[in-house]
Amino acid sequence: MKKLKNYNLIAKTSAGLEEVLADEIKEIGGKNIELGNRAVFYEGNLEIIYKSNYFLRTALRVLKEIEFFHFKNVEQFYLKCKNINWQQYFTVDQSFVIHSTVVNSRDFSNSMFTSLRTKDAIADYFREKFGKRPDVDTENPEIVINVHVHKDACTISLDSSGESLHKRGYRIKQGEAPLNEVLAAGMILLTGWKGETDFIDPMCGSGTLPLEAAMIAHGIPAGKFRKHYTFENWDDFDEPLFDEVKKSAEKKFFEHEIYACDINGSNLLNAQTNARRALVYNKIIFKKSDFRDLEIPVENAIILINPPYGERLKFEDLDGLYSMIGERLKHHFAGNSAWILSSSVESMKYIGLKTSVKKELFNGSLKCKFNNYKLFSGKLRS
Ligand SMILES: C[S@@+](CC[C@H](N)C(=O)[O-])C[C@H]1O[C@@H](n2cnc3c(N)ncnc32)[C@H](O)[C@@H]1O
Repeated sequence: MKKLKNYNLIAKTSAGLEEVLADEIKEIGGKNIELGNRAVFYEGNLEIIYKSNYFLRTALRVLKEIEFFHFKNVEQFYLKCKNINWQQYFTVDQSFVIHSTVVNSRDFSNSMFTSLRTKDAIADYFREKFGKRPDVDTENPEIVINVHVHKDACTISLDSSGESLHKRGYRIKQGEAPLNEVLAAGMILLTGWKGETDFIDPMCGSGTLPLEAAMIAHGIPAGKFRKHYTFENWDDFDEPLFDEVKKSAEKKFFEHEIYACDINGSNLLNAQTNARRALVYNKIIFKKSDFRDLEIPVENAIILINPPYGERLKFEDLDGLYSMIGERLKHHFAGNSAWILSSSVESMKYIGLKTSVKKELFNGSLKCKFNNYKLFSGKLRS
C-alpha cells in the first residue's frame, strides 16, 4: 500500500462544538488534535481529508494548510504569496476564489483587501509563467483558497470542502427557522446520545434534529447525499481512495425510536419530505401534536427542544410557551433527560426546572443557552 503524505488540517465549526468535533476527528483517525477557536487543528493524509468531509457531522469545512509565513508589510505579504508554487495546486484553466479572515492585523484592515492582494499575487504568478491568469469565480469556483491573517502571520490553505458541509444535500424544505445541520448534529452529540435510547423532538419544524439523530443512530454518513467536494477538483484527487472511504461506512443497528412532533402540519410535512430524501422516513415516528397534549410513554429518552425564540418566529406569549414546556416535561416526561436551545434567556426562566448542565451555543449570530434538565420523578428523587 502506498504511503500517503501527511498534512496540517483545520476543521472549522461553530462556537461551542470544538470538543465534539475533536472527538469525531479522533474517531476517523486524525492525529495530534488540538482545539482552537471555532476550529480544530489536526494532522492527516488524503484519506483523512476525504473521511473528514464525508463523516464529520460537526465540521463546516476542512482546510489543508499549504503555506505559513510572517510578513512585515503588505508588499512583503504580496511577494510571499507570489512565491508560492501555485501550479502545484491548480492550473491556469481552473477557476478559483479566495476567502480571507483577518484578526488583529496592523497591515490589513479588512479581509477584502487581503483577498485582493492574494488574488493579485496569484494572477501575477500565473501571468509571468504562462502568459495568462486563471479566472476568479465567486459562484462555482473549482479551487477555494483560504487565507487567515493573525497579526503578522499568514496561513494559506486549500479548502477541501467548498460549499459548507452543513449543506448535506437532503434538505428540500426549509421551514421557518431551521437549524443549521452542523449545529443540530453538534447539539445531539453534546448530549452524549448516539442511539442508546429513544429520542424525541417535540417541536421539530423541518426536522433537522430528528433527521440528524436518525443518521447518527443508523450510521448514515453526514456526506451520504452530498454531490460534490472541492477536493474532487484537485490535481491529486484519488477517486478509488474516495470510493474506499465511502464503502468503509458502517451501518449501525438501532433498536429504539425517534419521534418528530410539531403543532404545525405543514412544518411536519416539510420534515417528512426531508426525511424521505435522507432515506430515514421509515426510521422516524411523526406526530402532529401540540406539546401541551403530547403523550409518549418513554423512559431514559433524550428530549431535544428548539422552541421559537421570538426572533425569526414571532410568538404572542413566549413566556407562556416556555412555562408550558416546563410543566409538560415535569409532569409527563419524568425519567427522561431534556435539552433546550434558546436565545430567549428571559423566557427560559419560565421553564422553572433545575438546570443540570448549561452550555452556550450560537444559532447563526444568536447567542443561545443550551440547557439540560434531568427529569426525575417524585419517586426517584425520594
Ligand atoms: C424554531 S422552530 C424549530 C425548527 C427546527 N428545529 C428545524 O430545524 O426546522 C420551532 C417549532 O416549534 C413549533 N411549535 C411552536 N409551538 C408549539 C407547540 N405548542 N407544540 C408543538 N410545536 C410547537 C413550531 O411550529 C416550529 O416548527
